[in-house]
Amino acid sequence: MRVLSGIQPTGRPHWGNYFGAIKQYIDLQSADEAYYFVANLHALNTVRDKDQLSQFSWDAALDLLALGLDPNQANLFIQSDVPEVSELCWLLLAGTPMGLLERCVSYKDKIAKGLPVVAGLFAYPVLQAADILAYDANIVPVGEDQKQHIEVCRDIAKAFNHQYGEVFVIPEAKILDSSAKVPGTDGDKMSKSYDNFIEIFEPPNKMKKKVMRISTDSREMHESKDPETDHLFQLFSLFGSESDVQAMADLYRTGGFGYGDIKKQLAAAAQAFFEPAFARREELAAKPDEVKQILGDGAAAARKKAGEVLLRAQKACGLK
Ligand code: ADP
Ligand code: TRP
Repeated sequence: MRVLSGIQPTGRPHWGNYFGAIKQYIDLQSADEAYYFVANLHALNTVRDKDQLSQFSWDAALDLLALGLDPNQANLFIQSDVPEVSELCWLLLAGTPMGLLERCVSYKDKIAKGLPVVAGLFAYPVLQAADILAYDANIVPVGEDQKQHIEVCRDIAKAFNHQYGEVFVIPEAKILDSSAKVPGTDGDKMSKSYDNFIEIFEPPNKMKKKVMRISTDSREMHESKDPETDHLFQLFSLFGSESDVQAMADLYRTGGFGYGDIKKQLAAAAQAFFEPAFARREELAAKPDEVKQILGDGAAAARKKAGEVLLRAQKACGLK
């Protein structure tokens, strides 16, 4: 089984990204072959500042490694270091109906909001299809929001195979557990698009300040409360041990506590949870050559595989 996924370097990851996506990618890295990449070519459509794009890409690689991506198990690389993918993208574009892309929600959303749309954004799902097909990936772990793009990839691959013979492996999406939806500091879904997120690598005192500002209701100290409907409790349950979470749930039901104490406990639990990742990130940041080597090795392995698949596709459609 070959697993593949990409992460756009459009900002630093928050708690929602970790529990909703990154942790689950990392759990799958022991597949026979795993490819994880920083999708900087996709981000080029939205991140216009050159220093920001390269910094975000570097940070994304460090973040993944710090959070447990093991280069001995998975290939980690930067998307643009595998030029075979861009070439494959062109082959796929020739057989992609306009209507298929016009139906894509992410593009339609931009049009509906009256935002300027570049051709790169329109063709975004085709580049994503090339990313997936270039490695004969069977399983693509993604969030619910990416489901349509995997469907488009399957359609493009099937059309190509129909036209030219069995060239591509048809991938399956593995939709990540959406019950892991992490609330933000205001109780809505945590997202970069709202000012309600807490970054994983936020300095601890900044993180604590954000935790202390998490919105709460006007419950009195003595009142009991259903933990299941409380976003502060939901956040705590991501980080606390099973027995701590149970004890916290009992406390909610009994009442007699103040939200301030719960917030302090949440901040301490989150800090302890990410402490090893903080330490690992610092170590990696101090050894940029080692990280470059990891990314170089990952790209070399990826290019080898993508080169084979590209040649297969070129031969099939009469380019060789
Ligand atoms: P954002 O909403 O902050 O822009 P992205 O759309 O970049 O996040 O999400 C990247 C991945 O993280 C997606 O797979 C998405 O499902 C997951 N994710 C983002 N926010 C959350 C959240 N609050 N809870 C669970 N998963 C999330
Ligand atoms: N479009 C994905 C996102 O925004 C990132 C991505 C690019 C990707 N290429 C991919 C995900 C290939 C899975 C497979 O999250």
